[in-house]
Amino acid sequence: MHISIVCLFMAKIITIAHQKGGVGKSTLAYNLATCFQEQLRVALVDIDLQGSISDLRTTNPSLDIISDEDFDKIKSLNYDLIIIDTPPYLSNRLPDLFHISDYILIPTKAGFFDVMAIRSTLHLVKEAMKKNTDLKSGIVLNMIKHRSGITEEVKSLLNSFDAVLLNTLIHDRVSFARSPITGGVLLGEDEKAKEEIYSLAEEIVNTL
Ligand SMILES: Nc1ncnc2c1ncn2[C@@H]1O[C@H](COP(=O)(O)OP(=O)(O)OP(=O)(O)O)[C@@H](O)[C@H]1O
Ligand SMILES: [Mg+2]
Repeated sequence: MHISIVCLFMAKIITIAHQKGGVGKSTLAYNLATCFQEQLRVALVDIDLQGSISDLRTTNPSLDIISDEDFDKIKSLNYDLIIIDTPPYLSNRLPDLFHISDYILIPTKAGFFDVMAIRSTLHLVKEAMKKNTDLKSGIVLNMIKHRSGITEEVKSLLNSFDAVLLNTLIHDRVSFARSPITGGVLLGEDEKAKEEIYSLAEEIVNTL
């Protein structure tokens, strides 16, 4: 895949947010970072001081992992792309973070309660878009069970939110669960997982 992001002085920022825990924010943040790292200077940032991303320092020394950087300075750090992982609650820092972001990725499981919980994050995104008019966002369905897919109820709920639903579906795969220890799915053998991460990266880049 060829990734082309025009960066003039300022890094692009992709923030991964959803107030619900366990929807795959950190897993996708990490796998996207390893994917973009093939062609860009990438940093992964954890704004949760207890966050799991910081633990990746031991398993992937080649990735720049920054903890809790000052938002005022972050955009001028010497990177092409900065991926920011956020905690599973509506931190009072999210509005400032959304203000400096270029893209907000909202991963969710396809369950009714997971999808309903997106609304508060979407509300914050829409508020941020009033000032940061170039801000883009997209919802990605994660941990989709094989065969069961997404139900019509969930599809129509998501459509009612007036938000972009990405075409890429990330399925429930052991390779994703193992990815923090294996260095990311792109280093492994699971071709379908690789395709899903490349497809997600491409969809994001195409709107950046
Ligand atoms: N596509 C997937 N297939 C299988 N397992 C997954 C997938 N995505 C995430 N997981 C697993 O689901 C669990 C939750 O994922 P993760 O920690 O990335 O979520 P999170 O949204 O960052 O959680 P928190 O909000 O608590 O930080 C982890 O055990 C992870 O390995
Ligand atoms: Mg997390």
